[in-house]
Amino acid sequence: MIVLGIETSCDETAAAVVDDRRQVLAEVVLSQLEQHRPYGGIVPEIAARSHLDHLDGLIAEAMRHADLRFTDLDGIAATGGPGLIGGVMVGVTMAKAIAAVAERPFIAVNHLEGHALTARLTDDVAFPFLLLLISGGHCQLLIVEEVGRYKRLGTTVDDAAGEAFDKGAKLLGLGYPGGPAIERAAASGDPGRFALPRPMVGRPEPDFSFSGLKTALRQRVAELTASGPLAAQDRDDLAAGLQAAIADCLADRTARAIVLARARRPDLAALVVAGGVAANGFIRTRLQTVAAAADLRLVVPPARLCTDNATMIAWAGIERLRRGYVDGLDFAPRPRWPLDPSAPRAIGAGVKA
Ligand code: KG4
Ligand code: ZN
Repeated sequence: MIVLGIETSCDETAAAVVDDRRQVLAEVVLSQLEQHRPYGGIVPEIAARSHLDHLDGLIAEAMRHADLRFTDLDGIAATGGPGLIGGVMVGVTMAKAIAAVAERPFIAVNHLEGHALTARLTDDVAFPFLLLLISGGHCQLLIVEEVGRYKRLGTTVDDAAGEAFDKGAKLLGLGYPGGPAIERAAASGDPGRFALPRPMVGRPEPDFSFSGLKTALRQRVAELTASGPLAAQDRDDLAAGLQAAIADCLADRTARAIVLARARRPDLAALVVAGGVAANGFIRTRLQTVAAAADLRLVVPPARLCTDNATMIAWAGIERLRRGYVDGLDFAPRPRWPLDPSAPRAIGAGVKA
């Protein structure tokens, strides 16, 4: 079984071809980072236009790498949401067109399900497992019970973890995207010098909140810059303090979620971490400690599969196709698409699912 995957929901245009023996036959990604950098964040209209300009060429390149024609495929999968709607429409329309011409099934993949199932491609993780999804748009803890079956245990009520890094970096003048910049600065900083809050830590429900952290950071920066620019050491100490605070929140909330997940599913197989923030070495080390203390296997896919990519969409397409889950050409792109529809909608403005 061979599936073409297409990802266009955010600021990466990507195409990949994957088979059901877990072989990645082709994988191409075009980052729009340079186009958005001057604005300090993603501009949806620029993203959609750029997907439109580049997607056909990337798909042709992926098919060339895989040495396949469209009729050699068993299905065409595209991110159907959640995400920036203009971009999602570009990917979905392209996938439907290929599916119609090649007379193959179209599969609409939930972008979050793509992140969730990646650990089954890379590490053959069995169901059920606990997923900590930490990206620029999402911060959730979910039990992954089966393809299409999720139980959300916790979510952010305001910013996502990646957003906390990005906004923190902006306050510290470290540029965009903030995560890698904060991690670099933090390496030469003292995490204990500035006391920053740990919102939600100790609460029974494993939810997250990061906006108070951002406010505390802004106040520290204001104090330190009252009489001049921010000194390099102050900046690095604040970056280290911010990273430590985010890591403490993630570790505490995840430990709590493990207890709740085990109560529901004593056969819990692993703790899986996915999303761009999983690239952070400091956070990975903290989560390793949490998993070890709970005697649970920790699985973190390689960085290129943690950030947005089409391989995860193609793989989720394989998982769905195997179970006979395909979609009609009347599928409508979904800006919001929660993995667990029974979970109450989170209140934060930036919360997409
Ligand atoms: O999954 P992703 O590529 O895109 C989505 O948001 O879906 O995640 C991007 C996020 C950004 O907020 C970025 O700052 C963060 O992941 N990130 C990191 C690191 N690398 C990327 N955060 C902390 N440390 C890193 N090394
Ligand atoms: Zn993502």
